[in-house]
Amino acid sequence: MSATRRFRIAAIPADGVGREVVAAGREVLDALAAGSGGAFAFDWQEFGWGCEYYARTGRMMADDGLTVLKEFDAIYFGAVGWPGVPDHISLWGLRLAICQNFDQWANVRPVRFLPGVQSPLRKADDTELDWVVVRENSEGEYAGLGGRNLSARGPDSEVAVQSALFTEAGCERIMRFAFDLARTRTRRKVSSVTKSNAQQYGMVLWDDVFRRVARDYPDVETESVLVDAMSAKFVLRPEDLSVVVASNLHADILSDLGSALAGSLGLAASANLNPERRFPSMFEPVHGSAPDIAGQGLANPIGAVGSAAMMLDHLGLPEQAARLHAAIEATTAAGILTRDLGGAASTEDVTKALIDALNP
Ligand SMILES: NC(=O)c1ccc[n+]([C@@H]2O[C@H](COP(=O)([O-])OP(=O)(O)OC[C@H]3O[C@@H](n4cnc5c(N)ncnc54)[C@H](O)[C@@H]3O)[C@@H](O)[C@H]2O)c1
Repeated sequence: MSATRRFRIAAIPADGVGREVVAAGREVLDALAAGSGGAFAFDWQEFGWGCEYYARTGRMMADDGLTVLKEFDAIYFGAVGWPGVPDHISLWGLRLAICQNFDQWANVRPVRFLPGVQSPLRKADDTELDWVVVRENSEGEYAGLGGRNLSARGPDSEVAVQSALFTEAGCERIMRFAFDLARTRTRRKVSSVTKSNAQQYGMVLWDDVFRRVARDYPDVETESVLVDAMSAKFVLRPEDLSVVVASNLHADILSDLGSALAGSLGLAASANLNPERRFPSMFEPVHGSAPDIAGQGLANPIGAVGSAAMMLDHLGLPEQAARLHAAIEATTAAGILTRDLGGAASTEDVTKALIDALNP
């Protein structure tokens, strides 16, 4: 028998339903490893960082957290944010701290339509739909540049500036990533999302770089679409999409729209990649901590399990990733659905069905 490949994975469930879906994802991954006949295994280490940790320590993660995480093969993340801690503190203190410091500059967010899941799009009934949003994940509108000032002028006169940062290198690397990804897909097409009619500096640079990079990929079809028109296109002509490349904010919004069209935010998976592999990459469902349903066993674990499949791909286990996707499809096709999809199954029911589908 070949030697066991062991992968060191840092699990950071963080807050709310993040804890429930990371536990579910770990269970499914361990079942997959157990069925591999010793070919591979996961060595998990869980970190209790998040809003409760903040309440105790005044920090969202340990001071040496990044140094510790750097040694892992990958990070499996839940969701961060909880009432009582301002969202910008929790997000910047944990998730963005990891994404930015580990230069996870490509955020890949597939929009998949699953059997047995009803989409609000009538078109989805008889049209094959499947696209992927590639989000610039290191700069743009989330560069954290700006400030609040002039409060000394007296009440009601405070000013805030929030600047977006677009660098030629940052635009170029995410666009090349999108074009390379398009070459692996049946439809070789990249749609760039812009707002250069109103934002004449950053977004015009974005467009210039897109045109320049596109010249190196003559075999890939292109289009450039304003973000407002793209949001309409997601609903009206989604069959025309394959790879959608967009800035940090635009892609954040559009990928939630995509997952809602596929049936639920609870289905959407994502990978925060450091493509050069100088740092670990991080895999997480797109959704947040969902305080409205947290702790009730209602969370849909499919987004987290789909993210685990993306992690398997990244770790060089594409056949295992395909097995996870097949298990997800078998589970939804069998009508085992959580409440967000109109079903009555619990997180635990879906997790069990996924594990059963792995070993039919
Ligand atoms: N990546 C992240 O960590 C991340 C992303 C988005 C929001 N947040 C944080 O999460 C908190 C709540 O934010 P929000 O309410 O805007 O977004 P949310 O994604 O937590 O919830 C939006 C809606 O989707 C539902 N939902 C989300 N995940 C689900 C799942 N797995 N199964 C079933 N239903 C699910 C929720 O019940 C809610 O109705 C905030 O603190 C926010 O800052 C974190």
